[in-house]
Amino acid sequence: MRIAVVGGGPGGLYLSILMRKIRPDSEITLYERGAPTDAFGFGVVFSDETLTVFEHADPETYSQIAERFTRWTDIDIHHRGVRTTSGGHGFSAIGRRELLRILQERAVALGADLRFGCEAPPPSELGWADLIVGADGASSAVRTALARDFLPSLDRRHCRYMWLGTDLVFEAFKFFIAETEHGVVQAHAYPYDDGMSTFIVEMHERTWKRLGLGELSVADSVAWSCELFADALTGRRLSANKSRWINFVTVRNRRWCTDNVVLLGDAAHTAHFSIGSGTKLAMEDAVSLAWAFRSFGDDVVSATAAYEAERRPIVESTQRAAQASLEWFEGIGRYVGQQRLQFAFNLLTRSRRVTYENLRLRDPSFVAAVHPDPRPPMFTPFRLRGLELRNRVVVSPMDMYSAVDGTPGDFHLVHLGARALGGAGLVMTEMICVSDIGRITPGCAGMYRSEHVDAWRRIVSFAHQHGGCATGAQIGHSGRKGSTRLMWEGMDEPLPAGSNWGVIGPSAIAYSQRNQVPRAMTRADMDVVLDQFVWAARGALEAGFDLLELHMAHGYLLSSFLSPVSNRRDDEYGGSLAGRARFPLEVLDACRAVWPSDWPVSVRISATDWVPGGFGVDDAVALSRMLAAHGCDIVDVSSGQVTPLEKPAFGRSYQTPFADRIRSEAGVPTVAVGAISSYDDVNTIICAGRADLCALARPHLYDPAWTLHAAAEQEFDIDAWVPQYQPGSRKPPAGRDRVRAELERTFEEVELLSSDARA
Ligand SMILES: Cc1cc2nc3c(=O)[nH]c(=O)nc-3n(C[C@H](O)[C@H](O)[C@H](O)COP(=O)(O)OP(=O)(O)OC[C@H]3O[C@@H](n4cnc5c(N)ncnc54)[C@H](O)[C@@H]3O)c2cc1C
Ligand SMILES: Cc1cc2nc3c(=O)[nH]c(=O)nc-3n(C[C@H](O)[C@H](O)[C@H](O)COP(=O)(O)O)c2cc1C
Repeated sequence: MRIAVVGGGPGGLYLSILMRKIRPDSEITLYERGAPTDAFGFGVVFSDETLTVFEHADPETYSQIAERFTRWTDIDIHHRGVRTTSGGHGFSAIGRRELLRILQERAVALGADLRFGCEAPPPSELGWADLIVGADGASSAVRTALARDFLPSLDRRHCRYMWLGTDLVFEAFKFFIAETEHGVVQAHAYPYDDGMSTFIVEMHERTWKRLGLGELSVADSVAWSCELFADALTGRRLSANKSRWINFVTVRNRRWCTDNVVLLGDAAHTAHFSIGSGTKLAMEDAVSLAWAFRSFGDDVVSATAAYEAERRPIVESTQRAAQASLEWFEGIGRYVGQQRLQFAFNLLTRSRRVTYENLRLRDPSFVAAVHPDPRPPMFTPFRLRGLELRNRVVVSPMDMYSAVDGTPGDFHLVHLGARALGGAGLVMTEMICVSDIGRITPGCAGMYRSEHVDAWRRIVSFAHQHGGCATGAQIGHSGRKGSTRLMWEGMDEPLPAGSNWGVIGPSAIAYSQRNQVPRAMTRADMDVVLDQFVWAARGALEAGFDLLELHMAHGYLLSSFLSPVSNRRDDEYGGSLAGRARFPLEVLDACRAVWPSDWPVSVRISATDWVPGGFGVDDAVALSRMLAAHGCDIVDVSSGQVTPLEKPAFGRSYQTPFADRIRSEAGVPTVAVGAISSYDDVNTIICAGRADLCALARPHLYDPAWTLHAAAEQEFDIDAWVPQYQPGSRKPPAGRDRVRAELERTFEEVELLSSDARA
């Protein structure tokens, strides 16, 4: 097989090595435009967990690389003149030039033809090759030439950074946080050989512009960095190597292979350097691609497809972590004011891969210092006005579509009753609709008749008497998303002809082509709805609920006023955010006025519509300030469901960054919700200060006693077990071990997935 490899970075070289090992008959021509010693930058860092794959793939290169590794276990965070250390991490680093030298020598020894100083011909001129590998980095020419097939997306991020080196050898991975009058500048630094450390200087583009760094030469930028970080550098110098101020670009491609051309490493995907994964990913790609040829022989199309199928989920998961990490650094200005230890914990857990429990295993004393309370963070109480919640777990609102004429029945008693016995601090109802046409489906529960109040009172009384939890009523109106079928008959599907009711909204714009066009509301309609909300709030009060939540999310009536996607009014209830928020705020004012001043009100919002031109996170921050000014005590931060055109970026705790932003920028307490499924996630979110409460929905369908079980698994005694269940309250013997095993699995996900797939 004849293979053309474009690019002699770690990915292209490692592939050449492995292909020559697996297929000694293959002819490999590698084009590298630079000289062999031409490496940009300084060191590359690998975490301990990532090295196993390379050890198995080619022990010869691994042992040479490992011999030269600089190893350390601590991460030091230097913030406001104090160093905070977290131990037990386990990193290795090597100079990029040294790594490339080892790979080059091994590739040559195995018979690959490496052509340095040689610009690669475009793919159209490599017709002789059976396989063309685009390993030509983030600005890949191979990808550009075949952009129609690969469908790349390039996301230029908002920080500027410069990759520098210093002859000061640090003893740990270091973060130096410098606060200037124009914003925060951070340095990421680590040693990579006996005489050098990498020193990457990074800041938000805004800060970079205000500091005037764009006008400085590289030499002057280096001098400026030396001065800013003089204490960190203890007088030592910084040096440049092809360095310049750049914006990180996250590269993604819809496809990585087409015909006989395949992308690998940074050409296919990039992951921000703050999680140190770029080189590892490129080299793992090489392992996967080479192994695919072992299975598929000369069948290039099948081998490249198998490679992409194996690597894509792993890469996307890493890119999600990298995205969370780069966004954290983009927003670092929000966190520098945090108390020192919480800031350090927040920084360490920024990618959502390192968690509270994981840090506890690595360095118990660090976590004990961050959270000295003997109760796990999730079991610390939280106060909202006169209501003290016994812990931070909320049973998130979940429509059961099981009411009859709006009346919740036995199903609701058993469903909410079971969750009330399950240990959570706050149990929320499903959206309780304020009128019959305000229901989403005929099965939705309501609060618009006196029998509804009685039915809810029965449920709330049970929860208070037996569960000891607080209860919250979520009230709302379906608006243009009403008159649809029960969830299991088709979400958002209109009812069969003849049984529909007319729907209303801010503008005559249907949710989707299948749904009814709503009637645009008049001021008189608004008065009617306002009165209905007030009636429902009074009903919730009479029924005994402790907290009132207004549903302003998910495209229902109040949400559809907030979103420019559904609100195109040209009166004072449309236009700017202030106009779009006017009616929802009137509803909040009216409900707040009848809800006791000592009791809390929360508002659920969709922090983003996930479509261009829709409601966005900046709007959510501004709206949250308005909500707080109108008496809202906590914002329950969900997202989306406003338009079927949305493109949400699902993933672990994917909405938590919105709760985090609102909490830190608007200064309003928040509830985080969405794909939070482990107690470890909850502890991490609370301990880092990303939200005040965590709401879990589907996990509570799986396990009504989720909180009790979380306590048992953490060997923490809570007094939420009802006496009837006490005999079953002992921790299942395997509990903690299982969670630890799960954690370890998460962290070794990449290695396990790769080796499983190969086995
Ligand atoms: C500031 C910074 C810090 C980083 N820190 C780390 C870290 O700590 N750990 C880590 O793992 N990764 C790190 N990375 C990422 C890492 O450098 C890349 O992810 C990794 O090098 C990708 O390897 P690659 O082989 O895919 O591409 P590259 O290393 O970019 O190699 C591509 C090669 O192709 C050559 N080339 C391009 N076009 C052509 C052409 N037309 N003809 C011939 N040759 C061509 C280039 O000269 C280059 O040598 C960092 C990156 C940056 C920018
Ligand atoms: C069956 C079901 C019904 C839901 N009904 C509501 C609802 O009535 N009101 C609401 O605000 N959210 C509702 N949600 C959304 C959840 O409250 C929650 O925001 C979402 O499921 C994400 O959390 P999770 O990942 O923990 O499930 C519902 C979710 C599910 C699964």
